[in-house]
Amino acid sequence: MVARAQAPIVIKFSHVVAPDTPKGKGAQRFKELVEERSKGAIKVEVYPNSQLYKDKEELEALQLGSVQMLAPSLAKFGPLGVKDFEVFDLPFVFKDTDAFRAVTAGPVGYELFSKLEPKGIKGLAYWDNGFHIMSANKPLHHVADFKGLKMRIQSSKVLDAQMRALGAIPQVMAFSELYQALQSGVVDGTEGVASNFYTQKIYEVQKHITLSNHGHLAYAVIVNKKFWDGLPVDARKILELSIRDATVYANAIAATENTQALEKIKASGKTTIYTPAPAEIEEWKRALMPVHKEMESRVGKATIEAVYKAAGFVAPK
Ligand code: LMR
Repeated sequence: MVARAQAPIVIKFSHVVAPDTPKGKGAQRFKELVEERSKGAIKVEVYPNSQLYKDKEELEALQLGSVQMLAPSLAKFGPLGVKDFEVFDLPFVFKDTDAFRAVTAGPVGYELFSKLEPKGIKGLAYWDNGFHIMSANKPLHHVADFKGLKMRIQSSKVLDAQMRALGAIPQVMAFSELYQALQSGVVDGTEGVASNFYTQKIYEVQKHITLSNHGHLAYAVIVNKKFWDGLPVDARKILELSIRDATVYANAIAATENTQALEKIKASGKTTIYTPAPAEIEEWKRALMPVHKEMESRVGKATIEAVYKAAGFVAPK
């Protein structure tokens, strides 16, 4: 048990999504496990919904030690100078969740985490959140439908290239600003996962959703390294065990949470939900595959090849 100092160790865990999402629930489970196992000697304060910081600011706050833990999407590490994480944004690279997990559980997962250390950040776990869908106020069936649409993206340059390859105009924007931007027409559409579409009410301001599953969303649970290294050994042990268990939980609920969110969106009757025909997906793939080659110089050829191998992806000729 962690020796009780006068004051408990406090971990501020900030994130940008709603509590009722796979990440929100994972963070909450982590808090409960830690507080129970440390008998209150470690306190985890979870701040959801960008309450403390928006996307870019939260990474800065982590480096400064204003918060101790985050779980940003892998598409948000570029501005920190670790561009390799954007390999996870390559369109259609993961055929399913297992393919994604095979990558994060292997050498690529470890190596990417080691690149965070010189930035004062330690990677603890990867949390899965399923596949991206696309939305706009017009149906998105064919590549040509994207022409000229302003599409909100996370800060990844791979996502920027992806939207350009579709003929759209990408616009980087913080997650917390998305609803308003769609409502006011600052952007025309977005990609995202169903659990975020539901909890942020994106479906209320987008008339059409396409279940394209073209990209994957996942998070890195990260901690301020100096804080971590300075923890008493027994406290670190509790945190490690708790993050392991919270990771199993968050990964186990991701698919169901997203399926249920999609059901609720459907039931609202506020938007159409379109499942593309195989030939349409082939058309999207033809437009998007060149992004893999185009992004080699940014994310690294060796990293891309290692991801292909671990994910069992065979690049089309
Ligand atoms: C987004 O910005 O669209 C996502 O990264 C939000 C999240 O954390 O799920």
